Amino acid sequence: LSKPIVLIAEELSPATLEALGPDFEVRNVDGADRSALLPALKDANAVLIRSATKMDAEAIAAAPKLKVIARAGVGLDNVDIKAATTHGVMVVNAPTSNVISAAELAIAHIMGLARHIPDAHASLKAGAWKRSQYTGIELYEKTIGIIGLGRIGTLVAQRLAGFGATLIGYDPYVTQARAEQIGVELVDMEQMMKRSDFITIHIPKTPETTGMISTNEFKIAKPSLRIVNCSRGGIIDEAALYEALKSNQIGAAGLDVFVNEPPKDSPLLTLDNILVTPHLGASTDEAQEKAGISVARSVRLALAGDLVPDAVNVAGGEIDSSVKPGIPLAEKLGQLVAGLAHTSIVSVEFEARGEIAAHDVTVLKLAALKGLFQTMVTEQVSYVNAPL
Ligand code: 3PG
Repeated sequence: LSKPIVLIAEELSPATLEALGPDFEVRNVDGADRSALLPALKDANAVLIRSATKMDAEAIAAAPKLKVIARAGVGLDNVDIKAATTHGVMVVNAPTSNVISAAELAIAHIMGLARHIPDAHASLKAGAWKRSQYTGIELYEKTIGIIGLGRIGTLVAQRLAGFGATLIGYDPYVTQARAEQIGVELVDMEQMMKRSDFITIHIPKTPETTGMISTNEFKIAKPSLRIVNCSRGGIIDEAALYEALKSNQIGAAGLDVFVNEPPKDSPLLTLDNILVTPHLGASTDEAQEKAGISVARSVRLALAGDLVPDAVNVAGGEIDSSVKPGIPLAEKLGQLVAGLAHTSIVSVEFEARGEIAAHDVTVLKLAALKGLFQTMVTEQVSYVNAPL
């Protein structure tokens, strides 16, 4: 019997292979190279990616045997989740793997900007000894704005608390009470832009967040504002940022992420008041190990036909151990219903009774639907696309 094929499309920690174990044929490809990726996806049952591989509708269509896309990291903006769901492909990520590393890099950028570390370093290496030119500022008693108070933004707030700065935050999904818990005063975007000495961004890239900081926001910012983006390129409009930095409308920017990565020929790279790193937020030994192990485990579960706790496009949450044994039963019941029906089925009702009814039994519904449709349609039916 041939082993399932796991395609590794980006550099991952060696711990990933260890956690995958011997049950798979592991193949490697450079996911950023479309002409190599698309043919390599043809036989893949699972693909492991980071941020450089675009699993868009075209790539998913090129992978007829694909059961799972595993993102060894957090951001899923390079995965077309809708297309994956339609094709019955599970999408998983490693939602907590690199959050500490991301938070720490943002702090490094803040400190780097406050004390001119990269420029001072380069200058000394070039033979100069300039001290006054690299006079910096303290974080103490400055106002630091945090945009996005999710996992990473919260870690940033907790760490910045030690600097004695005033923390303000913008996050429409967070309550005042939650913000207070982490020592942050919630404000609107206008206050965020007007009051901050530093801003650091920790939100995903979505149609709503793309370009949310642009010309109008920079207009009301302090001329000394130092803004850090270690989340996703394009949340700060790059053209507007270039203009704001070039005209000294704001002080400086620290960027780990870009609209195009690498940001070849970007005018931003020509500026002096900028600190850049090549998307290193998650690039630590610890984060990579955690991400690799986490997605390897998810891939094992997914290819064994099990549900995966970190799946992002499967309904239902954690499965109670008393519900689990019902999964294959529900699937068979679904098949049975399909086989017994003499006319076409227009609606189905599922009912769970007894002790298991006290738990979330969404998974049983999914299993029954999967069983039901398996015998009726030619497409691959999975927990992912059965409800669809
Ligand atoms: C993420 O979304 O997890 C980070 O941006 C890391 O991306 P990377 O795995 O490509 O380093």
